Amino acid sequence: MTTPTTAPETVQLAVLAALDASPAGVLEDSRTLVVEGRKMDGAPEQILVKAAVDSLSRREMVSYTQKDTMVNFLTPEGTATLQNGSQEAQFWKALNLVGEGEGKTLKQVQDVIGEAAAKAGQPTAMKKKWLTREGATFFKAVATIEDTAQADVKEVEATGTLKGGDKLLYDLRKRKLISQKKFIHFTVSKGPNFATTITKLETDLTSEMITSGAWKKASFKKYNFAAAGVPTDGGSLHPLLKVREEFRNIFFEMGFTEMPTNKFVESAFWNFDAMFVPQQHPAREMQDTFYIKDPSTAGAPPQDYYDRVSTIHESGGHGSIGYRAPFSLPESQRLLLRTHTTAVSTQMLYNLANQPGGFKPAKMFSIDRVFRNEATDATHLAEFHQVEGVVADVGITLADLIGFMKEFFAKMGIENLRFKPAYNPYTEPSLEIFQYHAELDKTIEIGNSGMFRPEMLEPMGIPSNVRVLGWGLSLERPTMVKYKIKDIRTLVGHKVDIEGVRKAAGVRLDKPVM
Ligand code: PHE
Repeated sequence: MTTPTTAPETVQLAVLAALDASPAGVLEDSRTLVVEGRKMDGAPEQILVKAAVDSLSRREMVSYTQKDTMVNFLTPEGTATLQNGSQEAQFWKALNLVGEGEGKTLKQVQDVIGEAAAKAGQPTAMKKKWLTREGATFFKAVATIEDTAQADVKEVEATGTLKGGDKLLYDLRKRKLISQKKFIHFTVSKGPNFATTITKLETDLTSEMITSGAWKKASFKKYNFAAAGVPTDGGSLHPLLKVREEFRNIFFEMGFTEMPTNKFVESAFWNFDAMFVPQQHPAREMQDTFYIKDPSTAGAPPQDYYDRVSTIHESGGHGSIGYRAPFSLPESQRLLLRTHTTAVSTQMLYNLANQPGGFKPAKMFSIDRVFRNEATDATHLAEFHQVEGVVADVGITLADLIGFMKEFFAKMGIENLRFKPAYNPYTEPSLEIFQYHAELDKTIEIGNSGMFRPEMLEPMGIPSNVRVLGWGLSLERPTMVKYKIKDIRTLVGHKVDIEGVRKAAGVRLDKPVM
């Protein structure tokens, strides 16, 4: 189908001329229009007519009603039936009449007419009693047949319909031999502003028109309140920010308060030592952690707390035997880009134990950026965001942790959690959180959690009957799933597509996002 090129105004004038020529002032069927020698009876032409009558009716020069007609046309299978006969007829044709030669197996018929035609044609031909069967071989049961499907298709091809009626059309549609398409045309009549010419309507009242007085004679275009506005160029939220907001709301709904995570640089003391991560732990190596060169050292931690942390590392206490390795202040004071937001949770827990009035139960969360000295690829960045929750209260247990996880993730639409024992230096027990993904028939890791160790909590001064549970996950992963982003580098960094950010849909975590 070639794209029609007749100018819109030409079609409008033709409609007006046709109305003018009609004694009743009505164009009964817009398919009868002829514009510049072109018959307007096809579907692309009627689209032009629609544009014309829409425009004219906005000026109230015409009014119109749209008429729909359904037209049947042949599908590729229908065309094949027209040319080669129906599949059942092809099957029959491929055989010998019973008693006049050898029978053919389904496989042999397939070799002649193709697998699809043979498989679909055989049962129909059988039902029509065109075939007989001896064991695995088929014969023609009758010497002649009437291929009604082919005849019907031929009729549709010629007339667009079937005299036999809707039931037969329905059968052909069900066999996918024909398909239906809606066509439109219009009945047009004169409107209150009818004229045979179109005056240009002014769209703006200008200062020149006012000073010259031209406005008095001008005709103005009616204001279209339904017109879509120009999209604004205002700020748009990055997908990570949208998902972050959803997570925040889940935490708020569950009674959590937000922790102040607005600093990326931490001391090794808060990032590692206070969490009972041994000073010899491999995660502290340069290839895993970004250390700061200038300035390179933090101020000294609170002395009494530092002493207690140092003791628990070197020689233990509170039932622990510690790491029995030397503990160094310079190592504690090294500055680094925090490797997890748990560094902030740790300070908040310390504050909780040392606030005026002493410890009070708390539920706290944070969503912020962390840094790891890792090679970047499609699913890893050297910086990403952690979503983290911490709950501190008297006598809570591992069962509370699991219960919390279930409730938290259920609010994101994630069910079927599974837990696997894991290891973190600062939690015991530790659980990796998995989700069984029915669609993928796979279990995927979605987070990490645990009960903070007494070696971490006791030196802070958290009462010994208080247990603290925590969990963390990345913000990027659910965002990538939600927005179907394959490469994390197109989500964060210089490859982010600004237009994509502008157009990214809003997010609701009511469907599974992981
Ligand atoms: N800090 C952990 C991580 O980096 C997450 C976590 C937080 C685990 C709290 C247990 C408790 O993955």
